[in-house]
Amino acid sequence: MKEGSHVIVLPFPAQGHITPMSQFCKRLASKGLKLTLVLVSDKPSPPYKTEHDSITVVPISNGFEEGEERSQDLDDYMERVEASIKNSLPKLIEDMKVSGNPPRALVYDSTMPWLLDVAHTYGLSGAVFFTQPWIVSAIYYHVFKGSFSVPYTKYGHSTLASFPSFPMLNANDLPSFLCESSSYPYILRTVIDQLSNIDRVDIVLCNTFDKLEEKLLKWVQSVWPVLNIGPTVPSMYLDKRLPEDKNYGFSLFGAKVAECMEWLNSKQPSSVVYVSFGSLVVLKEDQLIELAAGLKQSGHFFLWVVRETEKNKLPENYVEEIGEKGLIVSWSPQLEVLTHKSIGCFLTHCGWNSTLEGLSLGVPMIGMPHWADQPTNAKFMEDVWKVGVRVKADGDGFVRREEIVRRVGEVMEGEKGKEIRKSTEKWKELAREAVSQGGSSDKSIDEFVSML
Ligand code: UDX
Repeated sequence: MKEGSHVIVLPFPAQGHITPMSQFCKRLASKGLKLTLVLVSDKPSPPYKTEHDSITVVPISNGFEEGEERSQDLDDYMERVEASIKNSLPKLIEDMKVSGNPPRALVYDSTMPWLLDVAHTYGLSGAVFFTQPWIVSAIYYHVFKGSFSVPYTKYGHSTLASFPSFPMLNANDLPSFLCESSSYPYILRTVIDQLSNIDRVDIVLCNTFDKLEEKLLKWVQSVWPVLNIGPTVPSMYLDKRLPEDKNYGFSLFGAKVAECMEWLNSKQPSSVVYVSFGSLVVLKEDQLIELAAGLKQSGHFFLWVVRETEKNKLPENYVEEIGEKGLIVSWSPQLEVLTHKSIGCFLTHCGWNSTLEGLSLGVPMIGMPHWADQPTNAKFMEDVWKVGVRVKADGDGFVRREEIVRRVGEVMEGEKGKEIRKSTEKWKELAREAVSQGGSSDKSIDEFVSML
C-alpha cells in the first residue's frame, strides 16, 4: 500500500447509510488512508476536517435551491440528487488530481449503481458498499435475474419461497417491496437496480461479517470480489479495552445524552426495554397507540425513541401516566444506550444497522419489522442467529398490545430469554473477533487497502 492513498466515499443521503459508511471511513483512516467523505446535503458548505485529520468532509448540494421545498416525490428527489452528484463529482475529482491528491477509488452506496460509470470514466476503481446484508442482496439478485418473480401477495395465502442456503421463507419474510411492489414502484426499481452492474464492480464491500452469513458467503464470493468489513460499530463499543476517542460521529441529532444516561443509571441491570424504529419508519397512529399501550401494560421500564414528528400520535396524557416507568426521547445515542448495563432488550424495526448493533453488542431483540429489508433481517435474527423473537402481526399487519406484552415478557423474564442471552453472548464475541486485529473483517479492510 502506498502511504496516504486517497479514497472518496459517497453514501446515500439517509442516516442508515451515512452512519456505516462514515464509520468505515474511520477504519480506513486508521489504516493510513486519506478519505474524502462526500455528503449530499440540504445546505452545501465548504469542506471541513473531522476529528480524524485524514478525513475531509465535502457537503454537496442535493439539487434543491436553498429555501426550495424538498420534493416528497421520491422519483423526483432521487433524480435531483443524481443530477447534482453527476454535476459536482467530476469537478471534485479533477480538482483533487490537480492538487496532487488524486483519488484511487470511489466507494459508493449500492443504491446509486450509476456511480460505477462515473468512477471508471475518471480512472478510479469502483467499490460498491452494501448497507444491507447478503441475505437481502441475494434475494434482490434473484429478482434481477428473473429467477424469482414479483410481486408476491404478502397477506394472501402463505406463498413459500426459498433460495440457495436459506431456511424456507414465508412471503412475510421477504423484503416488503417484493410483496407490495405496486405501492413503491420507484423503490422496487432502485433496490433491484443495486444488483444491475455488480458483475462489473471492482470491489464489493458489505457491512456484515463472514461468520454471520457463512453459508451464503461461499456463493457470493464465488461470483463477486466480496469483502465483508462489518460490523462498522466503533470498536470502543465492541471492546471497551480499546482506547479510542469518544465520538458520536453523525448520529447524535440533538439526542439528550445526559438525560438518557441519567435515567438509565437509576435503573437496575437488564431492567429496561429500549424501543427504536430507526430514522425512517413512520408508524400509523393506531399502531403507535397500540404499542404505547403494550409497553405500558408490560410493566417493564422502557426508553422509547419517538421522533419529534411522531409525538402528536401518542395518547393524551401518556407521558404523565407512565411517569417514571418510561422515558420518551426524540433521538437517542443508540450505541451508548445498547451498551448500558440496565438495558434488558431492544424492541427494534430490524433496520440492518440496528439489527447488527443489537447482535454485536449482545442485546436480545424483539423484532417488529415495518418494510424494506426489515422482515428478512427479522426472520434471520429470530430463526437463524437466534438472538431474539419477532412479534406476530394480525392478517392486516397490525400488532396488538397483548402481543407486545407477551413478547416483552418472553424475552425479559422467560426461559426463552435465557436461551437468547446465551446466543447473544456467542454472536457478540464473534462480531468482536471479526473486527479485532487479524479478524476476518480487519483482514478484508487490509485487503481493500492493499488493492488500491
Ligand atoms: C434504513 C433501513 O431500515 C436499513 O435496513 C438499511 O439497510 C439502511 O437504511 P433505518 O431505518 O434508519 O435505515 O434503520 P437502521 O439501519 O437501523 O439505522 C438507524 C441508525 O440510526 C442506527 O445506526 C442507529 O444506531 C441510529 N439511531 C437510531 C440512533 O443513533 N439513535 C436513535 O434514536 C435511533
